[in-house]
Amino acid sequence: MTVQDFISKPYSNTVESGNYTWASPSNIALVKYWGKKAYQIPENPSVSFTLDACKTVTTLSFTKKKNDGMFSFDVYLEGKRQDDFKPKIQTFFERIELYMPFLKDYHFKIETANTFPHSSGIASSASGMSALAMCLMSVEQELLTPVSGTDETFLKNNYRIQKASFLARLGSGSACRSIEGSLVVWGAHPSIEGSSDLYGIKYPYKVHDNFKDYHDTILLVDKGEKQVSSTVGHNLMYNHPFAQERFNQAGSNLSRLIAVFESGDLNTFIEIVESEALTLHAMMMTSTPYFILMKPNTLEIINKIWAFRNHTGIPVCFTLDAGANVHVLYPDKVSDQVIEFVKNELAVHCQNGQYICDSIGFGAKPVGNE
Ligand code: DP6
Repeated sequence: MTVQDFISKPYSNTVESGNYTWASPSNIALVKYWGKKAYQIPENPSVSFTLDACKTVTTLSFTKKKNDGMFSFDVYLEGKRQDDFKPKIQTFFERIELYMPFLKDYHFKIETANTFPHSSGIASSASGMSALAMCLMSVEQELLTPVSGTDETFLKNNYRIQKASFLARLGSGSACRSIEGSLVVWGAHPSIEGSSDLYGIKYPYKVHDNFKDYHDTILLVDKGEKQVSSTVGHNLMYNHPFAQERFNQAGSNLSRLIAVFESGDLNTFIEIVESEALTLHAMMMTSTPYFILMKPNTLEIINKIWAFRNHTGIPVCFTLDAGANVHVLYPDKVSDQVIEFVKNELAVHCQNGQYICDSIGFGAKPVGNE
């Protein structure tokens, strides 16, 4: 597939107005995307677990307007107008206009809500941008075919799914990994057939049962606004002294994971996943300017996870995003012990004792569009 393949066929239908709702989840990267080229092309391939409970539900209402060469839209978060979201959506519309040529023909009302607290420090860009991309795909579907409300068919149509992921990527890179589940690869990798820099694909090879029911308990260490936005963060990889080595390492970690996913080798999985998290933070500590995004409680939690694992042999590990929160990853078979451990030993290091229990999920879903 090339970018040209995502340019629409001429639309055969006229549609005056309507609305679509999609729910789309967040995802947690095992091999991290950190560093990108122009047009949201990643410097290295990444792989993530799609989550289930942490998601964004977005309703897109649209009414025909005169095409005056301008985008027209309003954004609401949990019922309140959110004008500070507009620049990001304006940029998104500009990037996707070529592939969604109807955008200037409508006024859009975008109503969005997250299942997780907005100020939790959990990035909503992956779930938010993928939900919006799915809503736009529904509108396009209606313009292409005479039948409305056919959203479920997307989920069976590979091209439509790829286009949804392609669009989501142009909103936020990691969003392209939220359309499907439960293990998604984004970025061309020589050993992963069908992988592409343009969109995420379902991991195409054998996955051992060990990885089919993973949990992610998200410890909310710091619920404040992100100290480093993802745009600023990715830019730190330009002229970074270790960048090229890091991009190569991500590729080889993904190669190693192919064997791990097949064999179910949890020790190697843990070694790769924790190293990826610490490397992401090491990149931020060694860039110019430099940042420390972990908090003392992040380190307290990491040390306790290591001690607990050494002591009990339970295969629990952590990963981090570009912030202080800790994602605790473990297979279902040890979930009772790990939840007890989280409650008794880790919750004290969370802001107001808060954490979110999530597990792997299967991607975006239409909500009542039929
Ligand atoms: C650390 O997808 O938020 O979570 O493309 O600029 O929107 P943009 O960046 P974004 O970056 C996510 C970075 C990460 C790692 C990952 O999810 O792979």
